[in-house]
Amino acid sequence: MQGPDKQQGPALVFTLAHLSDPHLNPMPRIRPVDLMGKRAIGYANWVRSRRRLHDMALLGRVLDDIAAHNPDHIACTGDVTHIGLAAEFPTATAFLGRLGPRDRVSFVPGNHDAYVPASLHALDDHMRPWSTSDDGATGYPWLKRRGPLALIGLTSAVPTGPLMAWGRLGADQLEKAEMLLHYAGRQGLTRVILIHHPPQIGGAKPGRELKDAAALEAMLARAGAELVVHGHNHRTSLAWLNGPSHMIPVVGVASCSMGPRGHGEHAGWHLFRFGDGPITLERRGLTPTGGIGLLDQSVLKAP
Ligand SMILES: [Fe+2]
Ligand SMILES: [Fe+2]
Repeated sequence: MQGPDKQQGPALVFTLAHLSDPHLNPMPRIRPVDLMGKRAIGYANWVRSRRRLHDMALLGRVLDDIAAHNPDHIACTGDVTHIGLAAEFPTATAFLGRLGPRDRVSFVPGNHDAYVPASLHALDDHMRPWSTSDDGATGYPWLKRRGPLALIGLTSAVPTGPLMAWGRLGADQLEKAEMLLHYAGRQGLTRVILIHHPPQIGGAKPGRELKDAAALEAMLARAGAELVVHGHNHRTSLAWLNGPSHMIPVVGVASCSMGPRGHGEHAGWHLFRFGDGPITLERRGLTPTGGIGLLDQSVLKAP
């Protein structure tokens, strides 16, 4: 990113928008063969409630608000689909395409995107343009350098049994992520991790948790990071994890499409600013008066 230096003007600020869990509608036409096993339960859930909870008109207003802020980069942390059907992914790619040019948008998948083993091929095939490393390497973890940031994308999305929504990174991904974090740290970059599931122990209810959260916590304690962003819980949260030299803020975001009929928090997104000082966070979304605006802002300072 180009801009004035310290002698000529204000310090350079890099902005990162984070949104998650749009659970995009409409659902494509369903064939009976699509509804085997876990997908039958998921589809029933969608018919009964989920299709009304996630409001696409409201999501459109959220996207307009993001666009009005012209962030330097946009991170989406998954659950773009409901039951991980191949026919759901074109809607997801159109959604990511609307966010901005491909080099300014990044994606990591959620549990709904890897709903059953049959989801994985379509997930990889469709979403690869937003989850490929700068060097062209595919797969996870990926690494992208943008301005002062090293964005590191992890996948915690694995197919699970009915009524389960847990995630797992696996030893191989953790090992590679640790190498990337050490590498980016030596470069003096601000390391931001994108992951769908909350990374900390106890970050989600049993059955919805990251199974290897303890191993991730231990890895982060060795390698360090400057920020972790995640979705999955559909609510705003802030936690802190130990790093080797400083605490690491872990920020969860609400669903970007949860309408007034929905449980918990309504639609929101986060705008992070990275400058010379601490990272700042602006939380935006549906306000009590029905507009899309500022909900609160804070400085991410360790407790
Ligand atoms: Fe979700
Ligand atoms: Fe999720």
